[in-house]
Amino acid sequence: MIQMMQIGKSNVTAPKMILGTFALGGGTSWQDTTGDDAELVRFLQEAREYGITGFDTAPVYGTGRSERLLSEVIRKDREKLYVSTKCSLNWRVKEGIMEYERDGKQVFRCYRKEELIRDCEESLRRLKTDYIDCLIVHRCPELDQIGETMEALEELKNRELIRCAGFSNILGSKTPELVVETALRYGRVDLLQEKANLLMRKKVEQIRAICEKHDITFQCHSPLERGALAGKLHAGIATWKNDNRSNNKWFQEKNIPLVLDLIEGLKPVAEQYGCSVPVLCIAWLKAQTPLMNLLIGARRMESLKDTLHALEIDLKEDAVKKMNTLADRAVSQLS
Ligand SMILES: NC(=O)c1ccc[n+]([C@@H]2O[C@H](COP(=O)([O-])OP(=O)(O)OC[C@H]3O[C@@H](n4cnc5c(N)ncnc54)[C@H](OP(=O)(O)O)[C@@H]3O)[C@@H](O)[C@H]2O)c1
Repeated sequence: MIQMMQIGKSNVTAPKMILGTFALGGGTSWQDTTGDDAELVRFLQEAREYGITGFDTAPVYGTGRSERLLSEVIRKDREKLYVSTKCSLNWRVKEGIMEYERDGKQVFRCYRKEELIRDCEESLRRLKTDYIDCLIVHRCPELDQIGETMEALEELKNRELIRCAGFSNILGSKTPELVVETALRYGRVDLLQEKANLLMRKKVEQIRAICEKHDITFQCHSPLERGALAGKLHAGIATWKNDNRSNNKWFQEKNIPLVLDLIEGLKPVAEQYGCSVPVLCIAWLKAQTPLMNLLIGARRMESLKDTLHALEIDLKEDAVKKMNTLADRAVSQLS
């Protein structure tokens, strides 16, 4: 059984490792997701039978598809599971900032209280559940939008539609610490879901400091830089229009050798711990702070079963230092 941890200061507990279902939505953003709905649901069911009890999704993952697929798996024993989804990005109202085109729909970023509440209500319908364990604001609001955003989250808590709440991608703000401090004036923030991996050490440090100061759970997303640190990258991906990896620097042809060199450099450290390089990279995140919650991505049981080994690994300081040095070298050459 996966170890449980408290989410922020809430009374919600979640497994230390959670399965993200972004890639399962497929569509524009993960163009190499194969398999029909039945096959993807089978994968989720198998993950559940293998001991996964925590799932993360979002309305925009496959524009509703990921939530719908997940609904098939969570209904049987919902009360034993931890489910998070998101709000603030929708393709319902043409209001706010146009974020991107996805799956033929225009996705807008909107923080109006009524729309945030509707985002949540629509997720509940797609997920076929009565409540969400943690609702996460998908994109970081401007400082003057935080009050209204927090009002929506507090109302959803009062209506018992959500059990706790958090923010994501606050590093999109020039003042991430101020974002959290402003939100805390209106209510509780229990979780920050941020992109965090070995290739972005300074940002990991920045979020770790904020979380430790305010006792907030640090939930990493894209711990393998969308598969790059697992060696799942090739120059073709950079040409897939609107795929979530096509603008990622590490997937550009000129930078791919840097990632592959880094992986080669990490192999001896992984061998020391008897694990794969992806597992080593996730163990590195686990070593950053006890507040870390590991949100991982997988579409195949083979990846998932391997990744779970990270929970058993406690990296020693010298291994962490060696990994830092190797990663810093790759980052310094990134163009
Ligand atoms: N808040 C946000 O804005 C945001 C943004 C991005 C992601 N997220 C969340 O974070 C979750 C994870 O992100 P991500 O999917 O980008 O995660 P990731 O771990 O960075 O990348 C997932 C990729 O790594 C591969 N992989 C994972 N474990 C592996 C292993 N042990 N061996 C070999 N390959 C392995 C997977 O392969 P296979 O697919 O072949 O199994 C998949 O291609 C998402 O599902 C989502 O819930 C949130």
